[in-house]
Formats: sequence, C-alpha cells, structure tokens
Amino acid sequence: MTRLQGQSALITGAARGIGFAFAETYANEGARVALADIDFARAEAAAHDINQAVPDAAIAVKIDVSDQASIDAAVATTVEHFGKIDILINNAAIFTAAPIAEIDRADYQRAFDINVGGTLFTMQAVAKHMIDRDAGGKIINMASQAGRRGEPLVAVYCATKAAVISLTQSAALNLIPHGINVNAIAPGVVDGEHWEGVDAFFAKYEDKPIGQKRREVADAVPFGRMGTAEDLTGMAVFLATDEARYIVAQTFHVDGGNWMN
Ligand SMILES: NC(=O)c1ccc[n+]([C@@H]2O[C@H](COP(=O)([O-])OP(=O)(O)OC[C@H]3O[C@@H](n4cnc5c(N)ncnc54)[C@H](O)[C@@H]3O)[C@@H](O)[C@H]2O)c1
Repeated sequence: MTRLQGQSALITGAARGIGFAFAETYANEGARVALADIDFARAEAAAHDINQAVPDAAIAVKIDVSDQASIDAAVATTVEHFGKIDILINNAAIFTAAPIAEIDRADYQRAFDINVGGTLFTMQAVAKHMIDRDAGGKIINMASQAGRRGEPLVAVYCATKAAVISLTQSAALNLIPHGINVNAIAPGVVDGEHWEGVDAFFAKYEDKPIGQKRREVADAVPFGRMGTAEDLTGMAVFLATDEARYIVAQTFHVDGGNWMN
C-alpha cells in the first residue's frame, strides 16, 4: 500500500485528530509529511510517533494559519526539508458556537481568520510553489456538513465552512489550468478531542449534561455511529492520487449519510 510513494505533503492542524490520522495514513502510503500545527510540541510528538513506524517520513512544523509570516515560514521549511510540496491538506480550524444575540466580534474574527483566511492564504502560498514548480499538485480543504446549512447556535462556524466550500470551487477553477486539483472533504460528526469542545458548547447553550449532545448526534447518523478520523482517510488518499486527476472543485461528504448531495 504505497499509493503516495515519492509525494510530499503539508497538512495543517496535524498534531491531533483528523489531521494526525491523515498524516499517519499518508506516511504509511509512502509520502513524506509535514505536520504543521500551532501546538508545535504536540506536532513534534505526533511526528515522532509516525517516524517510529515509518522512519524519516514525518517532520513537525510550527504554523499559525492566521498569520501570513507563519504560513510563509512553514511552507519554506517544508520545501527546504522535502524539496517540494505535492499535496496540501488545509485541515486546521477552530469550532465556535453562540446564539446570534451573543456572538462576539473578536470570536467571529478569530474563526474567520483561522478557518477561512487560514485556508485561503495557506492555499495561496502552496499554490505559488506548485505553479513555480510546474508539476501540478493536489489541494484538499476540510469543509464540514456545517457548511451546507445553518444551525441555530453555530452561525459563525457554519459560515466559515460555507466559505471553505466556495473558496474550494473558485480556487479549483483558477488552479486547474496549472494541473492543481482543489477539492474538499466535508465530515459530519467525527469523534475525538474536537468534540469535547463542541459538546461543552452545547452543554452550555442547550442546558444538557456533558456527553448528551455527543450521544444525540451519534444516534442521528444514518450509519449508526459518529465517524472516526480513520473513516476519512480513504477519501484523503484517493483525492491525492492520480486516479482523482479529473475531479475538480468538488466537496465530498464523508459522514455516514448525514448530508446528501
Ligand atoms: N470533528 C468533527 O466532528 C468535524 C466535523 C466536520 C468538520 N471537521 C473539520 O475537520 C478538521 C479537523 O477537525 P478535528 O476534529 O481533527 O479538529 P481538532 O480540534 O481535533 O484539531 C484541530 C487542530 O488544528 C490546530 N489549530 C487550531 N488553530 C490553529 C491555527 N491557528 N494554526 C494552526 N493550527 C491550528 C489545533 O492545534 C489542532 O491540532 C477541521 O477543519 C474541522 O473543522 C471536523
């Protein structure tokens, strides 16, 4: 299983959760991966874990996707180590929730800076490198079912993910003449540390005991359970291979049936 042999990937938000599962799977598929995260210590530990199984497959890179200088430095470090970037996964994001009457402007700004600006400007920095190299590339943006419809307590996060879907479409049309495929994956509800935060928000705003929202969303998935990060890795590998060369500007729902195209 080495479908990504010789490829180099930069994955943001890869210190834990879905991004880490992508990095681990990519390494097992023969790619070298830069685990880029604002939590550098955790990214280092995560890269170390991958290297124990696949020697020299992973490096840790510090990145704050809301900071242009940090994006540029992370891209430069990755290119320095691997000589090139063939695949970018824009995975870093934060969740936020509040009723409309309580949305805080600073919180809104932070969510847009990370989820939307982070996706756009990391995509831009890597696209420049890919265009200069003239060897094509694959860019995968992490959207969400939240980007497909509003939710009463999740206006800002939903809007950021709708923007990710839209940016994926525009960037894909702009970059496909350079042989760069841009697509997105939209998960539904994926269990992991991320959901501790989500569950806490709903506990506060829906007056539920901790853990109840998590059980409710799991029960509502047609497949019968929450997703795992590993449920998403197949799509992330496929979209990075040459088999996906004719796929452009799409958002794929990998969510156990929560959302239908
Ligand atoms: N877990 C879910 O249910 C779910 C559902 C739909 C979509 N998603 C999306 O999938 C992606 C991964 O989700 P997850 O559950 O693994 O999240 P997570 O919260 O577990 O991990 C996010 C990672 O991003 C990093 N990060 C946060 N801000 C950053 C910044 N400014 N710069 C760089 N790194 C930063 C964090 O340190 C963390 O390692 C996200 O885009 C998320 O919105 C998740």
